[in-house]
Amino acid sequence: MDFTLKIWRQEGPQEQGRMETYPVTGITGDMSFLEMMDVLNDQLIRDGQDPVAFDHDCREGICGMCSMFINGEAHGPNRKTTTCQLHMRSFKDGETIYIEPWRASAFPVVKDLAVDRGAFDRIIQAGGYVSVNSSGNPLDANAIPVPKDDADEAFNAATCIGCGACVATCKNASAMLFVSAKVSQFALLPQGQPERMSRVQRMVDQMDKEGFGNCTNTGACEVECPKGISLDNIARMNRDFLKSQVTGE
Ligand code: SF4
Ligand code: FES
Repeated sequence: MDFTLKIWRQEGPQEQGRMETYPVTGITGDMSFLEMMDVLNDQLIRDGQDPVAFDHDCREGICGMCSMFINGEAHGPNRKTTTCQLHMRSFKDGETIYIEPWRASAFPVVKDLAVDRGAFDRIIQAGGYVSVNSSGNPLDANAIPVPKDDADEAFNAATCIGCGACVATCKNASAMLFVSAKVSQFALLPQGQPERMSRVQRMVDQMDKEGFGNCTNTGACEVECPKGISLDNIARMNRDFLKSQVTGE
């Protein structure tokens, strides 16, 4: 298969970006999108040109690094699929493919397709954890019964890989789906109760400080999320946030 790639090139955060056109040939349908990008970069390096910078790590859908906007969709045309799990058979031979970085002011471009998602790390640092004093005699986790439905919902929330597709897809660049997943994975479990109210306050405050937009319930984030994180988590976070404001906990 042969493709024409139109790729966003930007030397650095302060530089002006532009779309550049690159032909790639000899691509097989079984190659992943990132393998196709590797073929392009091999070609660019052989020709003495600067390879395209893009983030990637696990290449199996679990690290959340492979952020790319492909033909106007986060992670490309397939639902519940990360860019690294997207195969070239999802495109037509001869197609022109547009590839851009996540676009949100809270995710500044580092270079080409790589963006700085440190804002997500700072939101987690603000409260996305459980403080456990493990000295002394901690209770065996298996001794705390958790209803199956709650465990399943907490697990579903915990599958968020922090990729940022929800932000990139949202017309407001809102991070509510991400933050609500990280709040819910604890709010649904007994272990998450002691810091539940302060956690939601601290994480939402940090989200606002980072410059993410407000949620207007369009639901695009849920559609484009590669892990199928539900909007129900946003409703739960809003309820907890309101309660934390009223109780002042
Ligand atoms: S909620 Fe979905 S789209 Fe957003 S960061 Fe988590 S996995 Fe990615
Ligand atoms: S490279 Fe890890 S999710 Fe795609």
